[in-house]
Amino acid sequence: MTYIPADGRPFTVSMGLRALNILEWIEVDSNRDAELKQKRDLLQQHHGQVFAALPEGQRGSQETLDLLLAYLNETFPELLHDINIDPDVHPLESAARLVQEDLVVMSPNDGQWILTAACVCFPSRWDLTEKVGANLYDIHAPVPHYAERIGDATNTMFSKFTADRPVWRVNWTILDSDELFQPTGHLRDLARNVAPEGEFGDVTFFRTERQTLRVLPSGDVLFTIRNYVNSLNDLAAKFPEFRENLGKTLLTTSDETRGYKGWHPIWEQLMNWTHMHENA
Ligand code: HEM
Repeated sequence: MTYIPADGRPFTVSMGLRALNILEWIEVDSNRDAELKQKRDLLQQHHGQVFAALPEGQRGSQETLDLLLAYLNETFPELLHDINIDPDVHPLESAARLVQEDLVVMSPNDGQWILTAACVCFPSRWDLTEKVGANLYDIHAPVPHYAERIGDATNTMFSKFTADRPVWRVNWTILDSDELFQPTGHLRDLARNVAPEGEFGDVTFFRTERQTLRVLPSGDVLFTIRNYVNSLNDLAAKFPEFRENLGKTLLTTSDETRGYKGWHPIWEQLMNWTHMHENA
């Protein structure tokens, strides 16, 4: 699927939740085999970086595996051929090996929502080991405008959330690589300073995260993250309005947001690519 949330409207940090049709919970596409293989390799070679679980996350993890198996059996039964769930493997890891999505279990504790189990093979410039056991505010501490704009609303939403109303939302950014596994810190500027003139749109990528949230039977919340990456030029070729809309939205981002996303080194080229300029 292609999601293009940069639609020309001003950039805002918002919840942007939409009702999720639960039949469309998980998305499967032609990258499945490659992405699942990359997950298996990462789980073998960098387990501590892509998987973490506290004892409090055990119940929600088992519920996630049960729900996912039931869902896949119903919706994509062909994907379950030859699948054996190893009882010695943590249930959230078993679940994450079945789908392209990354999976995170959040558990309530004393009015806060804590990350208690996660398998995140495709982080977009963040480090799972820093977030285990953290609450929603601390997880989002590096995100400019999160606390003042949506921190309380997100917390309240988690506490009032019901099992019959799953939701989804989209995050997006622009990156200098199409690698899915980017466990780097948020303070790192994008590395490439200058791409050869004319090639910028081929080596610069629009990355979206389709995220879903649903309440598990225990009351824990399951958060899924699915990544899509396309070069700027690919999207401009497919969607004629993309270039101008992206430019308009980018111009309205704050300096803090540009810094957080690491865009300063590519900003001028980005503006040139969109045909927008700071004083336009
Ligand atoms: C309704 C729920 C949520 C909202 C509205 C929300 C919102 C956001 C926003 C706006 C960003 C900034 C993205 C960007 O500009 O590139 C972000 C980043 C992030 N979010 Fe969320 N989020 C939600 C739930 C969660 C949950 C449940 C987790 C649990 C893992 C999570 C983990 C993160 C992480 C790790 C980052 C990157 C932070 C960093 O740079 O260190 N989010 N989120």
